[in-house]
Amino acid sequence: MKKPANEVILVLDFGGQYNQLIARRVRENHVFCEVRPHTFSLEEIRKMAPKGIILTGGPGSVCADDAVTCDAALFSLGIPVLGICYGSQLMAHLLGGSVVRADKSEYGKTEVEITDAGSKLFTGIAAKTICWMSHTDLIAQAPRGFKVTARTSACPVAAMEQAGKALYATQFHPEVMHTVQGKEMLHNFVYDVCGCTGDWQMGSFVEKSVKELRKKIGKGKALCALSGGVDSAVAAVLLAKAIGKQLTCVFVDHGLLRKHEGKQVESVFGEAGPYDLNFIRINARQRFYAKLAGVTDPEQKRKIIGEEFIRVFEEQAQKIGKVDYLVQGTIYPDVIESGLGKSAVIKSHHNVGGLPDFVDFKEIVEPLRLLFKDEVRAAGRELGLPDFLVNRQPFPGPGLGIRIIGDVTEKKVQILKEADAIFREEVKRAGLAKNLGQYFAALTNMRSVGVMGDGRTYDYAIALRAVRTSDFMTAECAEIPWDVLQNTTRRIVNEVKGVNRVLYDCTGKPPATIEFE
Ligand code: XMP
Repeated sequence: MKKPANEVILVLDFGGQYNQLIARRVRENHVFCEVRPHTFSLEEIRKMAPKGIILTGGPGSVCADDAVTCDAALFSLGIPVLGICYGSQLMAHLLGGSVVRADKSEYGKTEVEITDAGSKLFTGIAAKTICWMSHTDLIAQAPRGFKVTARTSACPVAAMEQAGKALYATQFHPEVMHTVQGKEMLHNFVYDVCGCTGDWQMGSFVEKSVKELRKKIGKGKALCALSGGVDSAVAAVLLAKAIGKQLTCVFVDHGLLRKHEGKQVESVFGEAGPYDLNFIRINARQRFYAKLAGVTDPEQKRKIIGEEFIRVFEEQAQKIGKVDYLVQGTIYPDVIESGLGKSAVIKSHHNVGGLPDFVDFKEIVEPLRLLFKDEVRAAGRELGLPDFLVNRQPFPGPGLGIRIIGDVTEKKVQILKEADAIFREEVKRAGLAKNLGQYFAALTNMRSVGVMGDGRTYDYAIALRAVRTSDFMTAECAEIPWDVLQNTTRRIVNEVKGVNRVLYDCTGKPPATIEFE
């Protein structure tokens, strides 16, 4: 592996649910950070030469026979290490301390007493501070040479360190928002312990990426899959900056877009817009509807849409001739989810809904694959993209196809488009949009009896969904004011033919997902 150009903090993942959060928190401090599995070897670590290493939490016990672990030599590389939760127990266990099962688990917000005010990790931290705990094992005794720097009523070693070797550990989770001064602790670790200077800035990311893309693509041609969403828009404009006319952007109208979306995308990215992207809009609606006819299984729908996308791009590439590169707006959470652990595949997430096995391009270029969503937005601002685009809520590649439960028909798409447009209009009118992570309508496959005028109806039920989320990995149902729901309902049943019932989805993620399929 090539040594990265930026200072880097390495996050070794032991299967904890907050691994992405740690990386985000470090990057918020303007320090680049990469998440790797706990099997990442010492040799690879030496090559990467990180300024510091963070060991994440994990679900297991370090005392179990099949415990996930790392090489104890990691602690003698001369690189500062911060162990968090499972990571702290692992550090204790591998260096000769003792880890035991606690009498009772400690879970939730807990008062932690800092017992060593001189600790670099705790500079500026209150003597008693609320931290987020989530553990069943605990460190009963710190390894020899370590100093205990914090405790709780249940946990004798809530933090420990061997400052001379720059080894630090916290039983609690500084990355979680509920740890009141967690941000400061991580800041202390990356700056005061690891000596980072904070060289991860979006301006330099854009500059560096442009250079790298130019070098990689040379005089070659690239095709960018542009959906109009923030990720692909940023990828397209970045590429245009790097290779100018050698780039062609293809926007596929698969007939599963929201109302007016096709026109909007064309007006921003097409000939009349401010960018020079060689923009091509392909009307492939009937082709997608034909492929989807009668298909009800969600995964199969995703695969069909993903595959058809690629086939359309391949055809365009053939027409242009000698296109080696397909550009996509894949971002870091997708990479982490698909590449690290043994976690179950919930959905075949992909920018285009799941790639087929065979893709007829020399290479797929993903310039944003190391960025989190907020960083993609920052890069977009750096590139001068307008606010409405940079702040757009996510819209999945398979579009309305995964918001129509069961088989997709043109008629159902029409119904959903209208209902969704009404809901979005009402949410915006009420001034709620900026506080919602995502909000949309879905077409349930349920028809039920209603009465309209004097007649019986047997029509579809529309489900409305609005969620608050910061990372889209978890979400809570948003409390939409009753009058907004009432207005929306009245308008949908009056204005959209084929709908006689409107439901509000009150479920969070988990157990539901944000999208319906
Ligand atoms: P779920 O439904 O898994 O969605 O809770 C989490 C986030 O991912 C978006 N999503 C997708 N985005 N291609 C995309 O580009 C996809 O296939 C896809 N599926 C879900 C979803 O809108 C939400 O923001």
